[in-house]
Amino acid sequence: MTAINQNKTTLFVGDANVGEWKVISTQTIVGEAIPNSLYLTIIKPTNEQPQIENFDWMLKGFNSNLRYTNREEKNILDTNPSVLGNPDHTSACFIPIKKTETWWNLTQDERRAIMERSRHIDIGFDYLSVINRQLFHSRDLGETFDFLTWFEFKPEHASKFNDLLTALRNTEEWKYIDREVEVRLVKA
Ligand code: HEM
Repeated sequence: MTAINQNKTTLFVGDANVGEWKVISTQTIVGEAIPNSLYLTIIKPTNEQPQIENFDWMLKGFNSNLRYTNREEKNILDTNPSVLGNPDHTSACFIPIKKTETWWNLTQDERRAIMERSRHIDIGFDYLSVINRQLFHSRDLGETFDFLTWFEFKPEHASKFNDLLTALRNTEEWKYIDREVEVRLVKA
């Protein structure tokens, strides 16, 4: 088994006093909540020991290779790259997610088939021009969530983002999610 270099992990930290993003709301969609926090900071991978004190919660994830995306889909993603940090994208959403043991006991092709029937990637494609995003993997770190998902967009596109969430949460794939928390943010 490949060891995961802890220096490659990104940290999402909920803090009561300071942070680059201000929390507007923390809503539990399914499963156990996370503590409420007023601010969120993202600490990118560093070789130094990050100095973090007095946080409300901290979740870790790492960037990884694609698992389910086919060539045709990858070409679309590559021609519409998701770039974070656009200064006009002052709204954000952080959604940690855990999938059920049933999901993880399926084979790779069975999981891809569910994502395909759910049209996750196709639905997402409709939003590529307005929502920038990054997926972090956590399961292999032994974290409580399997994935950390991060989205940035202009405030005027908040309702489009809501439509995206509604569409995905109505899919077969989402039946395999047993913990999901939605943290809405604005640039502090
Ligand atoms: C702009 C809209 C979106 C696009 C284009 C998109 C695209 C994708 C793609 C291509 C993958 C497959 C990655 C792979 O091959 O391993 C993926 C996975 C994933 N996406 Fe999305 N997505 C979007 C929105 C969302 C939203 C709103 C959520 C959460 C509410 C979400 C949660 C996830 C999760 C958890 C995975 C990992 C699934 C797994 O490996 O089991 N995505 N997404």
